[in-house]
Amino acid sequence: MGTDKDTRTMNFNNINGSKPILIRCCTLEDLEGVIEINEKELPEDYPYFFYKSILDNFNESFLIAVDNNGNVVGYIMWRVEKIPAIDSLKISNKGHLVSIAVIKGFRRLGIATALLTQSMQEIKKRIIDQFVLEVRVSNYTAINLYKKFNFSTQSIKYKYYRDGENAYFMVCQAK
Ligand code: ACO
Ligand code: ZN
Repeated sequence: MGTDKDTRTMNFNNINGSKPILIRCCTLEDLEGVIEINEKELPEDYPYFFYKSILDNFNESFLIAVDNNGNVVGYIMWRVEKIPAIDSLKISNKGHLVSIAVIKGFRRLGIATALLTQSMQEIKKRIIDQFVLEVRVSNYTAINLYKKFNFSTQSIKYKYYRDGENAYFMVCQAK
């Protein structure tokens, strides 16, 4: 698929000068690489069908970062949840950040920033009211990242994680 390859090469952006990185939509062939990163970088693992359902339903905001050797070095995935309002028939859509990770050798280069920026633009097209996420209260790195994107802590979900750690429930208005 020559055209596809050309597009990919053209889209390489020098996020930090030294390590050229391409941000693009995840495909079925990329899932293995995504799962590998998730298992290495985060304690929360998901079954294959979970990734597949995000890929099938929310592909445009399921993005990966690829290095110039074609290896997946980061990913972000979202889902859109329809929440009925308690006091009306109105349904509100929330963009829920399911997971983001960047492998260790590629951190602090702006890759997560690029993944969030591009995927939030895509999620917005689904007419959402808010972006929401959970993050471990000890995960200062990720909390810093989310604050840069104007997320603020709305509540604490106690013992949210299997090991008993609490989560901050963070929200950003989509406007
Ligand atoms: N210390 C403090 N703040 C940090 C650090 C750090 N080591 N790394 C990133 N940040 C914050 C800073 O605010 C930074 O902005 P700055 O560089 O202007 O100061 C901002 O994040 C953006 O940095 P990026 O380079 O874009 O982030 P990176 O590509 O390194 O990825 C990530 C950040 C995804 C959190 C990465 O550290 C990672 O994969 N961690 C392990 C997985 C993880 O914790 N994922 C989030 C779980 S919660 C969820 O998925 C809903
Ligand atoms: Zn969640």
